[in-house]
Amino acid sequence: MRIGIMTGGGDCPGLNAVIRAVVRKGLATYNDEFLGFLDSWDGVMEQRYVSLQESDVRGLLPRGGTILGTRRGSPYDTADGVDRVRKCFAEQKLDGLIVIGGNGSLTVASLIFEQTSLPIIGVPKTIDNDVYGTDLTFGFHTAVQIATDAIDRLHTTAESHDRVMVVELMGRDTGWIALYAGIAGGATVILVPEEPFDISKVCEQVANRHRGGRYASIVVVAEGVQPIPGTMKLPEYEHDQIGRPRYGGICVTIAQEIESRTGYESRVVQIGHVQRGGTPTAYDRILSTRFGLAAVDALHDGAVGHMVALRSSQVTTVPLSEVVNKERPIDLNLFHEIGSVFFG
Ligand code: F6P
Repeated sequence: MRIGIMTGGGDCPGLNAVIRAVVRKGLATYNDEFLGFLDSWDGVMEQRYVSLQESDVRGLLPRGGTILGTRRGSPYDTADGVDRVRKCFAEQKLDGLIVIGGNGSLTVASLIFEQTSLPIIGVPKTIDNDVYGTDLTFGFHTAVQIATDAIDRLHTTAESHDRVMVVELMGRDTGWIALYAGIAGGATVILVPEEPFDISKVCEQVANRHRGGRYASIVVVAEGVQPIPGTMKLPEYEHDQIGRPRYGGICVTIAQEIESRTGYESRVVQIGHVQRGGTPTAYDRILSTRFGLAAVDALHDGAVGHMVALRSSQVTTVPLSEVVNKERPIDLNLFHEIGSVFFG
């Protein structure tokens, strides 16, 4: 087969490991040929690609980012975008396209498949872990580890100065990274988008801890958190290329509120894109590798219009149409179970 590969949306640790696994599997098992499309859908529409041989994927397993480049745009941004994708398939004689992406790219992949029946396979990636239909996305484990390491370091400086540290973590409209890193890092309070927060309660939890003789607090905040309506003003967010709010900065407002309401000196920490950068953890290297192998098999088995997924430790495939436009919130039972013992 002649197979295209592309990476879409925000980058994430493990993308290169998937590319490596796809190419190694396809060459070793099926004698496939690979075209790596550059800069996401732009490369497909403009037929900009590099040929991928075994030597091109050497050393990729631990490397962060994506050697193919990535963008957030889509063929639906222009009137002739989908026709150009069709043309690319025809002119490049493609037997399949492997789309490694998060919710945005997988939605586009699903729409194109519905509209054209072109042989597309999805591979779920994102540090946010918010893709429906898979127990995990690769990149999440790495982001949680990076965030946990940061929180571990913040404890000592917070304790030395008797300060409140408000740590903002990524994750868009889900609190997966905040919940997992907050638990692993022993946070005083964790705020997640799945449950609007009450700033008075947060201050009470911080104050409780101080009354109990602990003079430092770590408040972990998912970037997409919302206050209970009418209780606190949110920052005004700009919007990204696909019209979603570009989160960032809620930690500043929350820290100001905590300081002014409790009198405890507060600081903010936004580790931002550090969560997405650098080498994947061992777990993510393995998950990416398994997804890459499964994507090639799925194409050869004719499971087009599907996404590879992890379900109860097994890698399987699910129709893209069952995955897109669905939310994947955190487990609020876990959130409350942890909160009832450890928060405040
Ligand atoms: O979806 C991954 C993610 O890192 C989100 O957690 C975050 O909100 C967003 O991407 C940031 O996007 P950008 O890289 O465009 O600033």
